[in-house]
Amino acid sequence: MTDASLFNTRRLLLGLTGGVAAYKAAELARFLIQDGVDVQTVMTESACHFVGTATLQALTGKPVFTDLWDTGIASSMAHIDLSRNVDAILVAPASADFIAKLAHGSADDLLSTLCLARDCPLLIAPAMNRQMWENPATQRNIVALERDGVTILGPASGVQACGETGMGRMLEAFELAETICAFFQPKLLQGKRVLVTAGPTYEAIDAVRGITNLSSGKMGYAVARAALEAGAEVTLISGPVCLDAPMTARLVNVVSARDMLAAVKKEISRIDIFVSVAAVADYRAISTNKQKTKKTEHSITLEFISNPDILEYVATLSRPPFCVGFAAETENLERNAEAKRRKKKLPLLAANLAQDTIGSDESTLTLFDNEGKNDLPKAPKIEQARRLIKHIASLYEKQTKKINPDTLT
Ligand code: C5P
Repeated sequence: MTDASLFNTRRLLLGLTGGVAAYKAAELARFLIQDGVDVQTVMTESACHFVGTATLQALTGKPVFTDLWDTGIASSMAHIDLSRNVDAILVAPASADFIAKLAHGSADDLLSTLCLARDCPLLIAPAMNRQMWENPATQRNIVALERDGVTILGPASGVQACGETGMGRMLEAFELAETICAFFQPKLLQGKRVLVTAGPTYEAIDAVRGITNLSSGKMGYAVARAALEAGAEVTLISGPVCLDAPMTARLVNVVSARDMLAAVKKEISRIDIFVSVAAVADYRAISTNKQKTKKTEHSITLEFISNPDILEYVATLSRPPFCVGFAAETENLERNAEAKRRKKKLPLLAANLAQDTIGSDESTLTLFDNEGKNDLPKAPKIEQARRLIKHIASLYEKQTKKINPDTLT
Protein backbone atom coordinates (compact mmCIF):
# COMPACT_ATOMS: atom_id res chain seq x y z
CA MET A 1 0.00 0.00 0.00
CA THR A 2 1.20 3.52 -0.78
CA ASP A 3 2.33 5.52 2.24
CA ALA A 4 -0.13 8.36 1.69
CA SER A 5 1.49 10.53 4.34
CA LEU A 6 4.61 10.89 2.17
CA PHE A 7 2.68 12.52 -0.63
CA ASN A 8 0.12 15.19 -1.13
CA THR A 9 -2.75 13.14 0.30
CA ARG A 10 -6.19 13.96 -1.07
CA ARG A 11 -9.36 13.28 0.89
CA LEU A 12 -12.39 11.90 -0.86
CA LEU A 13 -15.88 11.37 0.47
CA LEU A 14 -17.20 8.27 -1.31
CA GLY A 15 -20.99 8.10 -1.27
CA LEU A 16 -22.82 4.89 -2.14
CA THR A 17 -26.48 4.84 -3.11
CA GLY A 18 -28.77 1.89 -3.85
CA GLY A 19 -27.78 -0.08 -6.93
CA VAL A 20 -26.27 -3.43 -7.86
CA ALA A 21 -23.09 -1.56 -8.89
CA ALA A 22 -22.46 -0.85 -5.20
CA TYR A 23 -20.24 -3.95 -5.20
CA LYS A 24 -17.89 -2.12 -7.59
CA ALA A 25 -17.58 0.70 -5.05
CA ALA A 26 -15.82 -1.68 -2.66
CA GLU A 27 -13.10 -2.33 -5.24
CA LEU A 28 -13.03 1.38 -6.07
CA ALA A 29 -12.33 2.18 -2.41
CA ARG A 30 -9.46 -0.33 -2.45
CA PHE A 31 -7.91 1.17 -5.62
CA LEU A 32 -8.22 4.70 -4.23
CA ILE A 33 -6.56 3.74 -0.95
CA GLN A 34 -3.76 2.05 -2.92
CA ASP A 35 -3.30 5.28 -4.86
CA GLY A 36 -2.84 7.19 -1.61
CA VAL A 37 -6.31 8.79 -1.45
CA ASP A 38 -7.85 9.12 2.02
CA VAL A 39 -11.39 7.72 1.67
CA GLN A 40 -14.35 8.39 3.98
CA THR A 41 -17.46 6.41 3.09
CA VAL A 42 -21.09 7.45 3.49
CA MET A 43 -23.86 5.04 2.49
CA THR A 44 -27.58 5.57 2.01
CA GLU A 45 -30.04 3.14 3.54
CA SER A 46 -30.66 1.58 0.09
CA ALA A 47 -26.91 1.13 -0.49
CA CYS A 48 -26.76 -0.93 2.71
CA HIS A 49 -29.15 -3.45 1.08
CA PHE A 50 -26.53 -4.13 -1.60
CA VAL A 51 -23.23 -4.13 0.35
CA GLY A 52 -22.47 -4.13 4.06
CA THR A 53 -20.88 -1.22 5.89
CA ALA A 54 -18.36 -3.71 7.34
CA THR A 55 -16.86 -4.23 3.86
CA LEU A 56 -16.28 -0.52 3.25
CA GLN A 57 -15.12 -0.02 6.82
CA ALA A 58 -12.51 -2.78 6.48
CA LEU A 59 -11.29 -1.48 3.11
CA THR A 60 -11.00 2.16 4.15
CA GLY A 61 -10.00 1.60 7.78
CA LYS A 62 -12.66 4.11 8.87
CA PRO A 63 -16.18 3.91 10.24
CA VAL A 64 -18.87 4.24 7.57
CA PHE A 65 -21.55 6.87 8.16
CA THR A 66 -25.16 6.19 7.23
CA ASP A 67 -27.25 8.29 9.56
CA LEU A 68 -28.08 11.98 9.45
CA TRP A 69 -28.61 11.85 13.20
CA ASP A 70 -25.28 10.15 14.02
CA THR A 71 -24.17 11.26 17.48
CA GLY A 72 -20.61 10.02 16.88
CA ILE A 73 -19.60 13.20 15.04
CA ALA A 74 -18.13 15.78 17.41
CA SER A 75 -20.52 18.68 16.72
CA SER A 76 -23.59 16.53 15.86
CA MET A 77 -23.50 18.24 12.49
CA ALA A 78 -22.54 15.26 10.34
CA HIS A 79 -23.90 16.88 7.17
CA ILE A 80 -21.55 19.84 7.60
CA ASP A 81 -18.51 18.21 9.21
CA LEU A 82 -18.11 15.32 6.77
CA SER A 83 -18.24 17.51 3.69
CA ARG A 84 -15.86 20.12 5.15
CA ASN A 85 -13.01 17.67 5.68
CA VAL A 86 -12.70 16.45 2.09
CA ASP A 87 -11.35 17.73 -1.24
CA ALA A 88 -14.17 16.20 -3.28
CA ILE A 89 -17.28 14.05 -3.07
CA LEU A 90 -17.82 11.11 -5.42
CA VAL A 91 -21.20 9.38 -5.45
CA ALA A 92 -20.71 5.90 -6.98
CA PRO A 93 -23.06 4.35 -7.75
CA ALA A 94 -25.45 7.27 -8.18
CA SER A 95 -28.98 5.85 -8.60
CA ALA A 96 -31.68 7.53 -10.70
CA ASP A 97 -33.51 8.45 -7.51
CA PHE A 98 -30.43 10.01 -5.92
CA ILE A 99 -29.69 11.97 -9.11
CA ALA A 100 -33.26 13.31 -9.00
CA LYS A 101 -32.77 14.36 -5.39
CA LEU A 102 -29.49 16.14 -6.18
CA ALA A 103 -31.01 17.93 -9.16
CA HIS A 104 -33.82 19.27 -6.98
CA GLY A 105 -31.71 20.12 -3.95
CA SER A 106 -33.56 17.65 -1.82
CA ALA A 107 -31.85 16.68 1.44
CA ASP A 108 -33.65 13.94 3.34
CA ASP A 109 -30.76 11.69 4.34
CA LEU A 110 -27.09 12.07 5.28
CA LEU A 111 -25.59 11.74 1.79
CA SER A 112 -28.01 14.07 -0.01
CA THR A 113 -27.74 16.58 2.83
CA LEU A 114 -23.98 16.73 2.80
CA CYS A 115 -23.96 16.99 -1.03
CA LEU A 116 -26.22 20.04 -0.65
CA ALA A 117 -24.11 21.49 2.17
CA ARG A 118 -20.74 20.89 0.43
CA ASP A 119 -18.15 23.49 -0.52
CA CYS A 120 -16.03 21.10 -2.63
CA PRO A 121 -16.45 19.59 -6.13
CA LEU A 122 -19.08 16.87 -6.59
CA LEU A 123 -18.65 14.00 -9.04
CA ILE A 124 -21.23 11.30 -9.70
CA ALA A 125 -21.06 7.93 -11.45
CA PRO A 126 -24.60 7.05 -12.58
CA ALA A 127 -25.64 3.39 -12.51
CA MET A 128 -29.10 2.23 -13.52
CA ASN A 129 -31.21 0.27 -15.98
CA ARG A 130 -31.05 1.66 -19.54
CA GLN A 131 -34.71 2.70 -19.57
CA MET A 132 -34.23 4.63 -16.35
CA TRP A 133 -31.15 6.32 -17.83
CA GLU A 134 -32.89 7.18 -21.08
CA ASN A 135 -36.03 8.44 -19.35
CA PRO A 136 -36.47 12.16 -20.12
CA ALA A 137 -36.77 12.89 -16.40
CA THR A 138 -33.30 11.42 -15.71
CA GLN A 139 -31.84 13.18 -18.74
CA ARG A 140 -33.33 16.48 -17.56
CA ASN A 141 -31.81 15.93 -14.12
CA ILE A 142 -28.39 15.16 -15.60
CA VAL A 143 -28.48 18.35 -17.69
CA ALA A 144 -29.45 20.33 -14.58
CA LEU A 145 -26.61 18.81 -12.57
CA GLU A 146 -24.08 19.56 -15.32
CA ARG A 147 -25.33 23.12 -15.37
CA ASP A 148 -24.78 23.23 -11.60
CA GLY A 149 -21.13 22.25 -12.10
CA VAL A 150 -21.46 18.60 -11.08
CA THR A 151 -19.09 16.27 -12.99
CA ILE A 152 -20.83 13.23 -14.49
CA LEU A 153 -18.58 10.18 -14.95
CA GLY A 154 -20.06 7.75 -17.46
CA PRO A 155 -22.25 5.79 -17.57
CA ALA A 156 -20.99 3.11 -19.94
CA SER A 157 -22.97 0.89 -22.25
CA GLY A 158 -23.11 -2.88 -21.88
CA VAL A 159 -24.91 -5.84 -20.39
CA GLN A 160 -26.85 -4.87 -17.27
CA ALA A 161 -27.66 -6.77 -14.09
CA CYS A 162 -31.32 -6.92 -15.22
CA GLY A 163 -30.26 -8.79 -18.38
CA GLU A 164 -30.90 -5.87 -20.75
CA THR A 165 -28.13 -4.21 -22.77
CA GLY A 166 -27.61 -0.48 -23.11
CA MET A 167 -26.44 2.72 -21.45
CA GLY A 168 -26.47 2.85 -17.68
CA ARG A 169 -23.63 0.61 -16.48
CA MET A 170 -21.43 2.26 -13.90
CA LEU A 171 -17.83 2.79 -15.06
CA GLU A 172 -15.47 0.10 -13.82
CA ALA A 173 -13.72 0.63 -10.50
CA PHE A 174 -10.27 1.08 -12.09
CA GLU A 175 -11.67 3.68 -14.51
CA LEU A 176 -13.23 5.68 -11.69
CA ALA A 177 -10.07 5.42 -9.57
CA GLU A 178 -7.94 6.65 -12.48
CA THR A 179 -10.37 9.53 -13.10
CA ILE A 180 -10.41 10.59 -9.44
CA CYS A 181 -6.60 10.51 -9.16
CA ALA A 182 -6.38 12.61 -12.32
CA PHE A 183 -8.98 15.02 -10.96
CA PHE A 184 -6.73 15.69 -7.95
CA GLN A 185 -3.58 16.48 -9.97
CA PRO A 186 -2.65 20.05 -10.96
CA LYS A 187 -3.10 20.69 -14.69
CA LEU A 188 0.55 21.58 -15.33
CA LEU A 189 0.57 20.40 -18.94
CA GLN A 190 -2.93 21.49 -19.97
CA GLY A 191 -3.22 21.47 -23.76
CA LYS A 192 0.32 20.16 -24.34
CA ARG A 193 0.93 17.25 -26.68
CA VAL A 194 3.16 14.64 -25.09
CA LEU A 195 4.71 11.60 -26.75
CA VAL A 196 5.98 8.77 -24.53
CA THR A 197 7.85 5.64 -25.61
CA ALA A 198 7.71 2.70 -23.22
CA GLY A 199 8.66 -0.93 -22.72
CA PRO A 200 11.32 -3.00 -24.42
CA THR A 201 11.71 -3.62 -28.13
CA TYR A 202 11.90 -7.12 -29.59
CA GLU A 203 14.40 -7.79 -32.35
CA ALA A 204 13.62 -10.96 -34.29
CA ILE A 205 16.33 -13.51 -35.05
CA ASP A 206 14.06 -15.97 -36.80
CA ALA A 207 10.32 -16.68 -37.06
CA VAL A 208 9.95 -17.52 -33.37
CA ARG A 209 13.06 -16.20 -31.61
CA GLY A 210 14.43 -12.79 -30.85
CA ILE A 211 16.38 -10.65 -28.43
CA THR A 212 14.78 -8.27 -25.99
CA ASN A 213 15.37 -6.99 -22.45
CA LEU A 214 13.73 -7.07 -19.03
CA SER A 215 11.92 -3.71 -19.26
CA SER A 216 8.34 -4.09 -17.96
CA GLY A 217 7.06 -0.79 -19.34
CA LYS A 218 5.75 0.20 -15.89
CA MET A 219 7.68 3.49 -15.72
CA GLY A 220 6.75 4.57 -19.26
CA TYR A 221 3.09 3.77 -18.64
CA ALA A 222 3.25 5.70 -15.35
CA VAL A 223 4.73 8.71 -17.17
CA ALA A 224 1.94 8.55 -19.76
CA ARG A 225 -0.66 8.42 -16.98
CA ALA A 226 0.93 11.29 -15.05
CA ALA A 227 1.04 13.43 -18.22
CA LEU A 228 -2.66 12.72 -18.82
CA GLU A 229 -3.44 13.61 -15.21
CA ALA A 230 -1.61 16.90 -15.81
CA GLY A 231 -4.00 17.70 -18.66
CA ALA A 232 -1.80 16.72 -21.62
CA GLU A 233 -2.92 14.95 -24.78
CA VAL A 234 -0.82 11.79 -24.70
CA THR A 235 0.35 9.35 -27.35
CA LEU A 236 2.00 6.24 -25.97
CA ILE A 237 4.22 4.22 -28.30
CA SER A 238 4.78 0.90 -26.62
CA GLY A 239 6.94 -2.13 -27.18
CA PRO A 240 5.56 -5.55 -26.16
CA VAL A 241 4.38 -5.40 -22.51
CA CYS A 242 1.62 -6.95 -20.38
CA LEU A 243 0.07 -3.71 -19.11
CA ASP A 244 -3.21 -1.86 -19.63
CA ALA A 245 -2.64 1.54 -21.18
CA PRO A 246 -4.13 4.55 -19.36
CA MET A 247 -7.73 5.01 -20.50
CA THR A 248 -7.39 8.22 -22.45
CA ALA A 249 -3.96 7.75 -24.01
CA ARG A 250 -3.66 7.05 -27.72
CA LEU A 251 -1.80 3.75 -27.83
CA VAL A 252 0.47 2.72 -30.71
CA ASN A 253 1.87 -0.82 -30.37
CA VAL A 254 5.23 -1.59 -31.95
CA VAL A 255 7.66 -4.48 -31.82
CA SER A 256 11.16 -3.54 -32.98
CA ALA A 257 13.34 -0.44 -32.59
CA ARG A 258 12.84 0.38 -36.25
CA ASP A 259 9.04 0.11 -35.85
CA MET A 260 9.30 2.43 -32.86
CA LEU A 261 11.37 4.95 -34.82
CA ALA A 262 8.84 4.88 -37.68
CA ALA A 263 5.97 5.45 -35.23
CA VAL A 264 7.83 8.30 -33.53
CA LYS A 265 8.59 9.93 -36.90
CA LYS A 266 4.86 9.88 -37.74
CA GLU A 267 3.94 11.76 -34.56
CA ILE A 268 6.86 14.00 -33.76
CA SER A 269 6.08 17.12 -35.80
CA ARG A 270 2.99 17.87 -33.64
CA ILE A 271 4.59 17.07 -30.28
CA ASP A 272 5.55 19.56 -27.55
CA ILE A 273 7.26 17.16 -25.15
CA PHE A 274 8.93 13.83 -25.92
CA VAL A 275 9.67 11.46 -23.03
CA SER A 276 11.74 8.51 -24.17
CA VAL A 277 11.34 5.88 -21.48
CA ALA A 278 11.58 2.85 -23.76
CA ALA A 279 14.46 0.45 -23.32
CA VAL A 280 15.24 0.33 -27.02
CA ALA A 281 17.44 -2.60 -28.06
CA ASP A 282 20.83 -1.22 -29.06
CA TYR A 283 21.41 -3.99 -31.62
CA ARG A 284 19.47 -6.21 -34.02
CA ALA A 285 20.54 -9.24 -36.02
CA ILE A 286 21.98 -8.31 -39.43
CA SER A 287 19.87 -10.96 -41.10
CA THR A 288 16.80 -12.80 -39.88
CA ASN A 289 15.55 -16.21 -40.89
CA LYS A 290 11.91 -16.11 -42.00
CA GLN A 291 11.60 -19.76 -40.91
CA LYS A 292 12.48 -21.31 -37.58
CA THR A 293 16.22 -22.03 -37.60
CA LYS A 294 16.86 -25.75 -37.22
CA LYS A 295 19.04 -27.10 -34.47
CA THR A 296 22.38 -28.62 -35.55
CA GLU A 297 25.34 -29.96 -33.65
CA HIS A 298 27.46 -26.98 -34.65
CA SER A 299 27.77 -23.71 -32.83
CA ILE A 300 26.28 -20.71 -34.60
CA THR A 301 27.34 -17.09 -34.76
CA LEU A 302 24.94 -14.18 -34.95
CA GLU A 303 26.08 -10.86 -36.29
CA PHE A 304 24.46 -7.72 -34.91
CA ILE A 305 24.18 -4.21 -36.27
CA SER A 306 23.36 -1.18 -34.13
CA ASN A 307 19.81 0.16 -34.08
CA PRO A 308 18.97 3.81 -34.74
CA ASP A 309 18.97 5.95 -31.60
CA ILE A 310 15.40 7.29 -31.55
CA LEU A 311 15.93 9.88 -28.85
CA GLU A 312 19.09 11.23 -30.46
CA TYR A 313 17.24 11.48 -33.76
CA VAL A 314 14.45 13.54 -32.16
CA ALA A 315 16.75 15.70 -30.01
CA THR A 316 18.82 16.72 -33.03
CA LEU A 317 15.88 17.68 -35.27
CA SER A 318 16.09 21.31 -36.40
CA ARG A 319 13.08 22.20 -34.19
CA PRO A 320 12.99 19.45 -31.56
CA PRO A 321 10.27 19.13 -28.94
CA PHE A 322 11.36 19.34 -25.28
CA CYS A 323 13.22 16.01 -24.96
CA VAL A 324 13.50 13.88 -21.83
CA GLY A 325 15.68 10.77 -21.73
CA PHE A 326 15.86 7.88 -19.29
CA ALA A 327 18.98 5.97 -18.35
CA ALA A 328 19.05 2.64 -16.55
CA GLU A 329 22.62 2.07 -15.42
CA THR A 330 24.18 -0.76 -13.46
CA GLU A 331 27.13 1.30 -12.16
CA ASN A 332 28.54 4.85 -12.03
CA LEU A 333 25.02 6.24 -12.30
CA GLU A 334 25.89 9.90 -12.10
CA ARG A 335 28.85 9.89 -14.50
CA ASN A 336 27.15 7.70 -17.11
CA ALA A 337 23.84 9.55 -16.95
CA GLU A 338 25.33 13.02 -17.32
CA ALA A 339 27.55 11.83 -20.19
CA LYS A 340 24.48 10.39 -21.91
CA ARG A 341 22.52 13.62 -21.42
CA ARG A 342 25.30 15.68 -23.01
CA LYS A 343 25.89 13.27 -25.87
CA LYS A 344 22.19 13.22 -26.78
CA LYS A 345 21.83 17.00 -26.20
CA LEU A 346 18.96 16.60 -23.73
CA PRO A 347 17.63 19.33 -21.44
CA LEU A 348 16.59 16.62 -18.95
CA LEU A 349 17.51 13.02 -18.20
CA ALA A 350 16.10 10.76 -15.49
CA ALA A 351 18.49 8.08 -14.28
CA ASN A 352 18.04 5.02 -12.12
CA LEU A 353 19.85 1.83 -11.22
CA ALA A 354 18.67 -0.98 -13.51
CA GLN A 355 18.93 -3.65 -10.81
CA ASP A 356 16.66 -1.64 -8.44
CA THR A 357 14.02 -0.58 -10.91
CA ILE A 358 13.45 -3.14 -13.69
CA GLY A 359 10.10 -4.87 -13.15
CA SER A 360 9.58 -3.15 -9.78
CA ASP A 361 6.56 -1.02 -8.85
CA GLU A 362 8.91 1.48 -7.20
CA SER A 363 11.99 3.39 -8.25
CA THR A 364 14.58 5.87 -7.03
CA LEU A 365 15.33 8.52 -9.63
CA THR A 366 17.94 11.21 -10.15
CA LEU A 367 17.13 14.02 -12.56
CA PHE A 368 19.95 15.72 -14.45
CA ASP A 369 19.39 19.04 -16.20
CA ASN A 370 21.37 22.16 -17.08
CA GLU A 371 21.06 23.45 -13.52
CA GLY A 372 22.40 20.31 -11.82
CA LYS A 373 20.85 17.22 -10.29
CA ASN A 374 17.74 16.45 -8.26
CA ASP A 375 17.26 13.29 -6.24
CA LEU A 376 13.75 11.83 -6.14
CA PRO A 377 13.72 9.39 -3.20
CA LYS A 378 12.22 5.92 -3.57
CA ALA A 379 8.48 5.98 -4.33
CA PRO A 380 5.88 4.12 -6.40
CA LYS A 381 6.49 4.68 -10.10
CA ILE A 382 3.26 6.66 -10.54
CA GLU A 383 4.38 9.06 -7.81
CA GLN A 384 7.85 9.36 -9.41
CA ALA A 385 6.16 10.00 -12.74
CA ARG A 386 4.09 12.83 -11.18
CA ARG A 387 7.24 14.39 -9.72
CA LEU A 388 8.97 14.06 -13.09
CA ILE A 389 6.03 15.71 -14.88
CA LYS A 390 6.18 18.58 -12.39
CA HIS A 391 9.88 19.05 -13.13
CA ILE A 392 9.31 18.80 -16.89
CA ALA A 393 6.50 21.38 -16.70
CA SER A 394 8.70 23.87 -14.87
CA LEU A 395 11.68 23.46 -17.27
CA TYR A 396 9.35 23.54 -20.28
CA GLU A 397 7.78 26.78 -19.12
CA LYS A 398 11.20 28.38 -18.54
CA GLN A 399 12.36 27.27 -21.99
CA THR A 400 9.21 28.59 -23.68
CA LYS A 401 9.61 31.96 -21.96
CA LYS A 402 13.23 32.15 -23.12
CA ILE A 403 12.30 31.36 -26.73
CA ASN A 404 9.35 33.77 -26.83
CA PRO A 405 10.49 37.18 -25.55
CA ASP A 406 6.86 38.46 -25.72
CA THR A 407 6.04 36.35 -22.70
CA LEU A 408 8.88 37.77 -20.60
CA THR A 409 7.58 39.59 -17.58
O1 C5P B 1 20.09 2.84 -24.05
P1 C5P B 1 20.49 4.20 -23.49
O2 C5P B 1 20.96 4.10 -22.07
O3 C5P B 1 21.39 4.97 -24.39
O4 C5P B 1 19.11 4.99 -23.39
C1 C5P B 1 19.09 6.36 -23.03
C2 C5P B 1 17.89 7.00 -23.63
O5 C5P B 1 17.92 6.89 -25.04
C3 C5P B 1 16.57 6.42 -23.20
O6 C5P B 1 15.70 7.51 -23.01
C4 C5P B 1 16.11 5.57 -24.38
O7 C5P B 1 14.71 5.56 -24.51
C5 C5P B 1 16.76 6.28 -25.56
N1 C5P B 1 17.17 5.38 -26.65
C6 C5P B 1 16.58 5.49 -27.89
N2 C5P B 1 16.98 4.69 -28.92
C7 C5P B 1 17.97 3.79 -28.76
C8 C5P B 1 18.59 3.67 -27.50
C9 C5P B 1 18.15 4.47 -26.46
O8 C5P B 1 15.66 6.30 -28.04
N3 C5P B 1 18.35 3.05 -29.78
